Amino acid sequence: MKTQLINIHDDLDEIKKIVEGAFSSTPDSSIGKWFSFKEMTHQITSHRGVCIKAVSDDEKILGIIYAQQENPINGAEGLEKWVIVLTAVDSTITGQGIGSILLKEIEHQALEKGAIKIFVYTNKNDANVIHFYKKNGYEDAGWIKDYQYGKGNSATFLIKFLQ
Ligand SMILES: CC(C)(COP(=O)(O)OP(=O)(O)OC[C@H]1O[C@@H](n2cnc3c(N)ncnc32)[C@H](O)[C@@H]1OP(=O)(O)O)[C@@H](O)C(=O)NCCC(=O)NCCS
Repeated sequence: MKTQLINIHDDLDEIKKIVEGAFSSTPDSSIGKWFSFKEMTHQITSHRGVCIKAVSDDEKILGIIYAQQENPINGAEGLEKWVIVLTAVDSTITGQGIGSILLKEIEHQALEKGAIKIFVYTNKNDANVIHFYKKNGYEDAGWIKDYQYGKGNSATFLIKFLQ
């Protein structure tokens, strides 16, 4: 297995299938409510976002991770702070370390692009995903009430300083 930057033109259909499969049995299965592939493409071509794929020896995509600068409107502060928006591994091969490898690679890429820290958020009660990030060195950074999907869906934030 290897990791590579995605090819934004050739990989998109395969990536959509991985993401849909990965989130199908989660509270975030309506992907269009919280993620835009069009906007991801725009951010990547504007050099504000990076998407990495994990690829098998026979060139099949096994998982992806996407992160971007938090917000250019905040000047240097917003450029140094990156956010992981989406991590997805083929649902038939989770638990084999692929997500952790993708995390390390996106941290490396973000650091290269000037990030000093990276954060991620997820549903407040999603213990498995919170465990996944903590296992990879992310620390509790609090939670925000009703952060997602209107009212009633709070989010837990996790953060890691890069070096
Ligand atoms: C979360 C996810 C990206 C982790 O990828 P992965 O390749 O399974 O992760 P790893 O194998 O590197 O790490 C496994 C650890 O993550 C945890 N984990 C979280 N979700 C998991 C899942 N669906 N399947 C297996 N392990 C999961 C396990 O508890 C495990 O911890 P352990 O080694 O102490 O037992 C992947 O499971 C996934 O795509 N989940 C669905 C989509 C999602 O919720 N994404 C995260 C929010 S953006």
